[in-house]
Amino acid sequence: MDSKKPINVEVIPSAPDLQDADKLFLNFSTTEYRKSKNIPEKDQRLHRLLELQMLCNLSQELSTRSQHLDLLDHLAEQAVKITHSEFSQILTWEPDGSFICQVNSRLQPADQQNNSPYLAPIASWLHYLQVINQKKPVVLKQDAPDISEDERRAMGLDTVEELWMLPLWAGSEKIGLLILGSNPSHKKDKQICDRLGQMTPIADQATIGIQRKRIQQNLEKSFVEIILALAENIEVDARSSHRHEYHTSTIVTTIATSFGFSTAEIQALQWAGLLHDIGKMQIPEELLQKPGPLTSDEWQIMRKHPVFGAEMLSSISLLKDVVPIIKYHHEKYNGSGYPFGLKGEEIPIGARILSVADAYSVMVGGRVYCKPRSQKEAVEELVRCSGKHFDPIIVNKFIELIDSGLIY
Ligand SMILES: [Fe+2]
Ligand SMILES: [Fe+2]
Repeated sequence: MDSKKPINVEVIPSAPDLQDADKLFLNFSTTEYRKSKNIPEKDQRLHRLLELQMLCNLSQELSTRSQHLDLLDHLAEQAVKITHSEFSQILTWEPDGSFICQVNSRLQPADQQNNSPYLAPIASWLHYLQVINQKKPVVLKQDAPDISEDERRAMGLDTVEELWMLPLWAGSEKIGLLILGSNPSHKKDKQICDRLGQMTPIADQATIGIQRKRIQQNLEKSFVEIILALAENIEVDARSSHRHEYHTSTIVTTIATSFGFSTAEIQALQWAGLLHDIGKMQIPEELLQKPGPLTSDEWQIMRKHPVFGAEMLSSISLLKDVVPIIKYHHEKYNGSGYPFGLKGEEIPIGARILSVADAYSVMVGGRVYCKPRSQKEAVEELVRCSGKHFDPIIVNKFIELIDSGLIY
């Protein structure tokens, strides 16, 4: 099944307006989901699959639209052109008191994609907050007496003569700042106040752009929450109360934490643990529930589930780091895995971790075709396959965590 092909359900509003999409999303999540509760139990799995696909299609549509709606890059560029400035930045104020630089026109487009948004240097926060609280534009000169060298550098005031700083407010809500770095001695044209006046419409647009971006991010979080709920107990093994996805997710999180991964990397692994077999929703249930070994034709179908899962989730930008983990979770360290036969470090580290956790969880939890093994037997099997199926460094870490009681 082509996950990108929209299913025959009217879910996309015609007007290119995020608010409409928002209303529609809420409508979908209440009426459609409620309706699904009245359908016969045997059809529930198919309906869950359809719902998942609708969500993924809707998310893809929203992210395409958000590219048009996300005005920030364009506004930063226009602000530099209109005012003949050296650079512009758009920053958001965060509830924890920090500032995130959403756009920095000094960065090349490729760097912009890789580095933005990023945390503004701490030394700049106090000055930024003062400007916001004044609620009016401020011109900060390079030779202002009350600024330290660190603060000057943090704000980029070491490279330009002046910073023009415009606070962004939406009613009573603090939004952030629009900043322009300028060298007025190089220009002889208009007065500063004229040019600051020209900035007001751009500042207003930046405020709207930031608000839209936040709505988009909240919507994506809601998508992920609903997808996680719909994907629960994908294999529905009635014989076992073992929650395989949850168990796998707990293990990968523990391993990633002990390796010192970043919060974002741990989050991606946690979601990958919960969603790794979501592609099995596209595998016929008879195969999933078959008590004996699969025939070679049946295996051909079953081996597609990592790619099905990756395709299904590929349109959700919040899950972009989760997709490769899912896609490669059945690759093996010696290249004998599927679907691509990758080996060693060709396999993303997240997928190598998931592979160990998945295998262990399946062994101790059991499946329709095999009885559960004891923890000791499962660990022995991991050790036996270390360096063949599994990355030995990860197996060693896994055993360390088992021995210290952090993995069960
Ligand atoms: Fe799998
Ligand atoms: Fe699994």
